[in-house]
Amino acid sequence: MTKSVSAAALLATSAPSLFSDSGSLAQNLVEAYLVVRDETERRAAPLSPEDQLIQSMPDASPAKWHRAHTTWFFEQFLLGEHSPGYQPFHPDYAFLFNSYYVSAGPRHARHQRGHLTRPSAEEVTAYRRHVDAAVVKFFQTADQATLAKLVPLVEVGLNHEQQHQELMLTDILHAFAQNPIPPAYDAAWRFPASQRTAEEWVALNEGIHTVGHTDDSFHFDNEKPAHRALVGPVRLARNLVTNAEWLAFMKDGGYGTATLWLMDGFAAVNNEGWQAPGHWRQVGGEWRIMTLGGLQPVDRQAPVSHVSYYEADAFARWAGKHLPTEMEWEVAARAGQLNDAFGIVWQWTRSSYSPYPGYRAIEGALGEYNGKFMVNQLVLRGSSFATPAGHSRITYRNFFYPHHRWQFTGLRLADYV
Ligand SMILES: [Fe+2]
Repeated sequence: MTKSVSAAALLATSAPSLFSDSGSLAQNLVEAYLVVRDETERRAAPLSPEDQLIQSMPDASPAKWHRAHTTWFFEQFLLGEHSPGYQPFHPDYAFLFNSYYVSAGPRHARHQRGHLTRPSAEEVTAYRRHVDAAVVKFFQTADQATLAKLVPLVEVGLNHEQQHQELMLTDILHAFAQNPIPPAYDAAWRFPASQRTAEEWVALNEGIHTVGHTDDSFHFDNEKPAHRALVGPVRLARNLVTNAEWLAFMKDGGYGTATLWLMDGFAAVNNEGWQAPGHWRQVGGEWRIMTLGGLQPVDRQAPVSHVSYYEADAFARWAGKHLPTEMEWEVAARAGQLNDAFGIVWQWTRSSYSPYPGYRAIEGALGEYNGKFMVNQLVLRGSSFATPAGHSRITYRNFFYPHHRWQFTGLRLADYV
């Protein structure tokens, strides 16, 4: 394996801190907090109050709910627990906007989030302003020792909000994709350019590598402990699988050939009527893709997106290849050998989302953040174009159920030689 490490890969090894290292701690906290909070509102800005209410399936949440839930997170875990005398904006909002934190009390049913015409989008804006003002005041008045102790909590809250920023786009795209019209979130949006190279494969020789997050820069608990893993020999595709390759799979009867599929996967194909990736639709005999820019022709050179794990696995079998493990992906990415590792589509691995050896969830309610989901899901690595700037890193473990395909999810292949 060559050792030319790209600048992008180096940067992504450890994402830059959200906090500036100049100025006082209070100033840095205020600045980082407002930058992230503003990005949520920027992403919500093109959405009408009606757009903000829709929940097009139980897995997706209304934009209004994302805006309120991320606010509740700071109200509940920062202000409620650490700001003496803070009064919640509304006594019912903790019930409405708690997602899955059992330790934080009862909550509204997830699949009924789209039933909430009230509070209105405008009232959610007022909720955000109330909490923002209280958080900024808290940062400006708390003593230095208190602030220093709370930095990790604020970092989790901001990274949590960034995760919801990506979901706001995937969720509204799913809703718009159900609409015959079909609406554009941003008419000027185009799929980002990928960086394919003619050299197709990177070979990883057999070796023992350290995987997982190794330093104290921000990370989620699921990225630790770093540990040693045996990797290779294996070849990983440098390039992401494209729409042209996916069309060849479809043309070859991929969706109808049971022997290519896991049993659960073929059941999903039949139950859901899958004939193509998510958000594809046929217009006059031609496939089109519903994107954030509206309905667009299939760009054959672009990486395929909106495929489930089941589809990625079937495609790999059809190609005579495999999906990589998350360890193989991490070793190759750390060496800067993967094109489009970040910023286009998340990449399915065949690794189950399970705890690393010695993993323990953090103490308290935030221990529910990751650990309790470590069963029956698959790991995705990298990031997508919808992932906020500064949120990606090589050790990041995203996870979804194998039938999920409304995220910006694609794949690269692996081969064992
Ligand atoms: Fe959340």
